[in-house]
Amino acid sequence: MPSRRRLPRTVELEVLGQTEDGFGFGLAVGSKYVVKGALPGEVVSARVLGRRKGQVLAITETVQNAVDDRTEPFCAVFPRCGGCSNQQWEYREQLKFKERWVRRELSRHQLWCGSFMPTQHGSTTHYRRRARLGVRWIDKVGEVYVGFRETFGSYVVDMNRCPALVTGLAELIGPLRALITRMSAPKKIPQVEVVAGDKARALVLRHLEPLTVSDFNLLSAFSNAYDVWVYGQSGGYETVTRHFPAGDPNAKLTYELANDGVSIEFGPTDFIQVNSEINHLLISAVLKELDLGPEDRVIDLFCGIGNFSLPAARTAKSVLGLEISSTSVEQARRNAERNDLSSATTFLASDLYRPINNELTKTDYKMLLDPPRSGAGPELGRFAHRAKRVVYVSCNPTTFADDAAVLDRIGFQLERVQVFDMFPHTNHVEIVGSFGRSERS
Ligand SMILES: C[S@@+](CC[C@H](N)C(=O)[O-])C[C@H]1O[C@@H](n2cnc3c(N)ncnc32)[C@H](O)[C@@H]1O
Repeated sequence: MPSRRRLPRTVELEVLGQTEDGFGFGLAVGSKYVVKGALPGEVVSARVLGRRKGQVLAITETVQNAVDDRTEPFCAVFPRCGGCSNQQWEYREQLKFKERWVRRELSRHQLWCGSFMPTQHGSTTHYRRRARLGVRWIDKVGEVYVGFRETFGSYVVDMNRCPALVTGLAELIGPLRALITRMSAPKKIPQVEVVAGDKARALVLRHLEPLTVSDFNLLSAFSNAYDVWVYGQSGGYETVTRHFPAGDPNAKLTYELANDGVSIEFGPTDFIQVNSEINHLLISAVLKELDLGPEDRVIDLFCGIGNFSLPAARTAKSVLGLEISSTSVEQARRNAERNDLSSATTFLASDLYRPINNELTKTDYKMLLDPPRSGAGPELGRFAHRAKRVVYVSCNPTTFADDAAVLDRIGFQLERVQVFDMFPHTNHVEIVGSFGRSERS
């Protein structure tokens, strides 16, 4: 929790504008206040939580004059819960806000886009098929809370279900609380990851002390009762082990990309796109922008377990997928095998923030990249120099614009941009940018 020294318990202020996260801000007693759950033009009374980086952080308690864009939050723990940013705001306004953010970042580099396509969105609740939930022992109630961390803080929210999680995970929170509370060392369980495939769901319990026989009995009964695969994690990701149900401990979760005739297997801690519905839209958009023919070679940077590479390999001559995680690369290879695409695909483990020397980058290709928030890294120009087209999937408007500027300098033109609302009611923005060779290149 940030420092609360010499701050009032509550503050009343007029909301003057919005931060990049979509939180309201205003001025009171000489300080800038960032207020979650408040909209520009409103006067709100807010509970002060602390100070961070010269700003005072607060969450809305009452609103004196609701603006037209205000709507009723659908979750009882909003705005206290840090899982969502903006349930109080009409959804269509949130989408416009995300689009404006991308435009603002591009204009920071004086980049102009040929066409800004309509934002793609899907279900606004029950969309998350993966979440990392905090676990915290609460002395005064003698049980654990399991859930998202509180807004601007590290405490875990007192919740029993979460309407952002897909059905099947949403209602697992209450039973998880009861389970962990009964375990031998509930204070030594800091987090639990929950993840859903199309056919099965799993949880990964991080434990700082060895599990006892009675813990295993409880976990076995839980796995049976809720039809969930239970994994334990005693250290790093390499220690993740499936305990229940009995049977193949290496069995994988799966999701289907029916439009592309691809079936993807994944482990409980592998990266997957969190929103299945939006993932389908994303893949369609990427394939459309790559405009593949049977002679095309594709390089898929930051390819993970092959989410884009394998659909692309259904049409392209060959796909080279590069990715830092060797377990993801192995999984991508297994996914190629199970889809009969091994002869069209090569997956290699590489740190793409360092120079790599691969023969395949010396011929013409179409390039796809989907980097982490930190962006494509210093080698982007080198990777792109022989590319005929670049399709860039980004989860960060700022690094997307920075990288678009690099591509612009080496002769690419941003032809189309589209926002995908992967995480409704949060400040997360997913973008697909499509770059062709500009006339001057
Ligand atoms: C946003 S995910 C995209 C994964 C995949 N495209 C998908 O749709 O499932 C980013 C990926 O980049 C990988 N990554 C992170 N840093 C990297 C680096 N320095 N070099 C290569 N890959 C990296 C991560 O392991 C992760 O799989």
